Amino acid sequence: VRVEFLDYEVLDDYGWSLDDGDLFRKASHADLDESEHGRLLVQPDESLLEGAENRGFGWPFSCRGGACANCAVYLVEGEISQPANHIMPDDLADRGFRLSCNGYPVSDELRVVFNVKHLDELDDLIL
Ligand code: FES
Repeated sequence: VRVEFLDYEVLDDYGWSLDDGDLFRKASHADLDESEHGRLLVQPDESLLEGAENRGFGWPFSCRGGACANCAVYLVEGEISQPANHIMPDDLADRGFRLSCNGYPVSDELRVVFNVKHLDELDDLIL
């Protein structure tokens, strides 16, 4: 599964929003570090977080078990599975937030913003 990723801190720095339709195009044109914006391949037996780690990226996490939301990502394109037992409230899940520690990509391509734990909506969930 091909994943294009972007660090939420970049959105903060540049004043971009998760709703920007051309978020990833803007990211391509900005001079970003390869840890902030880039692509990686996730293997079928890897969660999104494991895929990022195994390719050398240090994405945020804590419990690794769906209970803390530190690993949350925002889905711009594609889909990630979500186990029944998780901390993400339905309204946030409906808006495209997922946990990367136990979420497995289920589409061929993904575009995600990682590090979204700094968003106000998620701040309350972080344990
Ligand atoms: Fe805690 Fe994913 S690391 S929910």
